Amino acid sequence: MSVEDIFKEMKSKLSNLIPEEELRRKAELAYEINNLKKEKNALILGHNYMDAALFHSIPDYTGDSLELARKAAKTDKDIIVFCGVEFMAETAKILSPQKTVLIPAEKAGCSLAESITAQDIRNLKEKFPGVPVVTYVNTYADVKAETDVCCTSGNAAAVVESLDADTLIFLPDEFLAKNVARQTGKHIIFPKKFPELKGESNNDLDYQLIGWQGRCEVHEEFSPEDIAKVRDQFPDVVILSHPECSPEVTALSDFCGSTSAMIKYVEQTSAPRYLLLTDCAMADNIAAANHEKEILRVCRVRCPHMEKITLENTLMALKYNRYQIEVPEDIRLRAERAVKRMIEIR
Ligand code: 13P
Ligand code: SF4
Repeated sequence: MSVEDIFKEMKSKLSNLIPEEELRRKAELAYEINNLKKEKNALILGHNYMDAALFHSIPDYTGDSLELARKAAKTDKDIIVFCGVEFMAETAKILSPQKTVLIPAEKAGCSLAESITAQDIRNLKEKFPGVPVVTYVNTYADVKAETDVCCTSGNAAAVVESLDADTLIFLPDEFLAKNVARQTGKHIIFPKKFPELKGESNNDLDYQLIGWQGRCEVHEEFSPEDIAKVRDQFPDVVILSHPECSPEVTALSDFCGSTSAMIKYVEQTSAPRYLLLTDCAMADNIAAANHEKEILRVCRVRCPHMEKITLENTLMALKYNRYQIEVPEDIRLRAERAVKRMIEIR
């Protein structure tokens, strides 16, 4: 596609959002990136939280964590450029070790991934011997390596239900765990809150999910009051939330699902207006692809990690083969088992 074609396509989607002058500049960058992508036999994956100009121009595939992990596992390209955060790029490397995996920003973290270490999991396994460990993909490779199976927001309940176990350790997102506990009818406890739970005495307790108190710094911001105020102003609004929101918020929402599930929900329904309780960039991306739909946002926080990925640094990533994701082979092999097991479930 020529610069002009890219510009026209971006304009058709984004003219309400980005001024023409800026769109032209973005189209030129996207043109350069697409040429380099072809030259270097690279694949670009873009998470649903990428900013609208990037999301609607350069990715070969866009999607949620699960969909992108599946694409990374299947590609025959030499290079994967992951426009997302570090744990996602790491998951791609775990699944495709022979590929060069690049992330455009040197440090694009995640408050959930930072909330737990491999040693924390080893301690929990010591405290609850024999109990299977389910870990959210929003964790780093060394944590995944200590895990029996991973899950994403798109398949968390299915993964929990697939394990034929009365008690599970489910880490590290407190809110996702509570939402999954409600969905699957399981009781949940948080051992950090109950330091007296030690060794054998745990066996007497009535719990089925053992959680951890990690939180997404974006989704924890949304509150039941936000929902009440918006419903007050727009009684016909349909509210969608991500399962990283608190269980109080998800209970008051009309739909709760992964980022891609939210996108599909908006595409497949015809409400007068929607409110999205998730990262704001995604609301822009949905609005750009569904001009006829009104999308409301409560945008106090944009994920500060996702925000670091831009067209500018994606071009640099391809030009200079940076920043390369590496995972030590012994850790990768153990983490791969947990990730592959998840992909096979659903
Ligand atoms: P999804 O898997 O739903 O895309 O979520 C990833 C994420 O980090 C949400 O904050
Ligand atoms: Fe992590 Fe939250 Fe950002 Fe998702 S939105 S990458 S969970 S900090």
